[in-house]
Amino acid sequence: MRVEVLGAGIVGLAVAEELQRRGHAVALVDPRPASGASYAAAGMLSPAAEVWHGEEDVLRLGTASLRLWPGLAARLGVPVRREGTLLVGHDAADLQQVDRQVELLARHGHDAVPLDRAGVREHEPALARVAGGALLPGEGSVDPRAVCAALLARVPVHTAPVGADVTVVATGARLPEPWTRLVTGVRGEVLRLRSDDPPRRTVRGWVAGEPVYLVPRGDGRVVVGATSEHHDDGPVVTAGGALRLLAAARELWPALERAELVEATARDRPSTADGLPLVGPSGVDGVVLAAGHHRHGVLLAPLTAQLVADHLETGAVDPAVDPRREGAR
Ligand code: GLY
Repeated sequence: MRVEVLGAGIVGLAVAEELQRRGHAVALVDPRPASGASYAAAGMLSPAAEVWHGEEDVLRLGTASLRLWPGLAARLGVPVRREGTLLVGHDAADLQQVDRQVELLARHGHDAVPLDRAGVREHEPALARVAGGALLPGEGSVDPRAVCAALLARVPVHTAPVGADVTVVATGARLPEPWTRLVTGVRGEVLRLRSDDPPRRTVRGWVAGEPVYLVPRGDGRVVVGATSEHHDDGPVVTAGGALRLLAAARELWPALERAELVEATARDRPSTADGLPLVGPSGVDGVVLAAGHHRHGVLLAPLTAQLVADHLETGAVDPAVDPRREGAR
């Protein structure tokens, strides 16, 4: 099959690589590859830490995709960190948020190891006093920029459409008509720091109700994220957003005071009405969607690649992500 993939973010790149691997002729089209949400993304592979009430399908899809990551990373020669995610609550009310998350996970048969204050400190000596937390084993992270660079080295990118039997639209938060309104941009601001005392694993915390996460790369680099806001203007880093992230992160991780602030980035997350991506038939013959991955583009990239390739080869569609579903409108 000759397939054109529009959009060279991590989703489009993973789709193109999977199709190429299966022997299809693939043209990837993007005038500015890997410069959208994938450029900002921290790279959490945390289906359990990132699932919210009402989005339980994310847990099933994310868990399936997490299993595919080691294979993809090995093909690309990039590391995957698998130290688990540490959920932490700064005060008693924040800890209730952790407890609610743990209850949700237990209902779906997912492991979470509850930790008291001392247990949290034992796992993460770099953290300050917290009320408690839980360890989600098996979760991890990748460096999305390294992943995209490795994928770009394997799949050639064109700057304009080339024509094909099938088009896969993977343009993230900016879909062409008639799908434009299925996805809206939700701004995420993210900070990159360098520290001599980083956390050992991904920490996802609540600090006086403010959500924040820290994703260490293992070499002193730490990504701190992320705000989440609907907005009308461009995705810029606001002083208020950076301040909220730094204040919340410092409460959990005092070594932030000494860390070098390397970069501040903002991008729009591609968000759908029901929080689930659009992967499958678009309603227009010869056009398939692979978009709207909201908070989960990096995590869901390998599964999306498999779903798109399976769909093109067999017609199969996962109903939870079918772009024609009721909840996507
Ligand atoms: N999954 C991380 C974020 O969306 O901020």
